Amino acid sequence: MTTIADAIAALETGELIHLPTETVYGLGARADAPAAVAKVFEAKGRPKFNPLIVHVASLEAAELIGIFDDRARALARAFWPGPLTLVVPVRDTAKVCDLARAGLDSVAIRVPAHPVALAILQGFGGGVVAPSANRSGRPSPTRFQDAVSETGPSVAASVDGGDCQVGLESTVVSVLNDVRYLRPGAITRAQIEAIAGALAEDASEGHRSPGRLSLHYAPDAPVEINIDNPPMDCVYLAFGDTDFTGPVLNLSPTRDLSEAAANLFTCLRKADALKPARICVAPIPADGLGEAINDRLKRAAGFVG
Ligand code: TXA
Ligand code: MG
Repeated sequence: MTTIADAIAALETGELIHLPTETVYGLGARADAPAAVAKVFEAKGRPKFNPLIVHVASLEAAELIGIFDDRARALARAFWPGPLTLVVPVRDTAKVCDLARAGLDSVAIRVPAHPVALAILQGFGGGVVAPSANRSGRPSPTRFQDAVSETGPSVAASVDGGDCQVGLESTVVSVLNDVRYLRPGAITRAQIEAIAGALAEDASEGHRSPGRLSLHYAPDAPVEINIDNPPMDCVYLAFGDTDFTGPVLNLSPTRDLSEAAANLFTCLRKADALKPARICVAPIPADGLGEAINDRLKRAAGFVG
């Protein structure tokens, strides 16, 4: 079995690891070594203009990499360790190579709330870049086996941390001139505003996080969303009761948004494995965590340009 010590050793020698986090499984590499970071882009088939998130064990470690003002520090104190990524001005470009930042003068940083991730990060000491461990464009892995089947051959050490509790990638918030909500996640807009005050208006889609590609999180079968009356040739992802008589996977029988988020990518994979003509998804409420779920679903359906 692969241990935490194996993962630390692999990072030290510039190899890739599977990093279990509370959001999704990450594909990790040391952030300071361009050759190691290049392996991440190659293993995922990821466009190089899309910068990566640097994972560290604590706010103290984060402050060595990025510049935290009072707003950023307050957000970090409120939500770290946890599913929030903060984009701040970069402090030390040697600790996070240009390739990891896609040449930007800002850097995305997060302290994950998973004991295995924290043990690896503490043991390694430096920053670890980790995008989701899927190949680019595909659903993020939320189970150990899915991470291994997506990117296993490229990885030197895969640590099994169980199923991911949150199931959606972290919320991304930039704290530069203004505070902006760049990617919805389990930390909601309202939770950010309660700490940092009113958010700046959303930029248009194209100007948000550079990596927000149009077709993302997508299984092989086409995805249709907001479907109340599914056709017989689909696999239906229900939310609450359904009287559909075809194949059904339920995101949450009790209409619980946290449960639906945790099940979303696994259900997309299970539905895809049945090789249907299409995957239809029930309407999901847009409030709270529903914003993040609907964001991922729209991208899986190819609706966001
Ligand atoms: O939950 C997560 O965040 C997972 C786990 C493994 O921690 N990681 C993850 O990484 O989702 P990734 O690479 O798939 O998403 C990184 C997001 C992208 O949308 C990227 O464009 C944005 O963060 N990002 C990174 N650096 C940025 C920067 N300097 N400015 C704006 N957005 C940035
Ligand atoms: Mg991803």
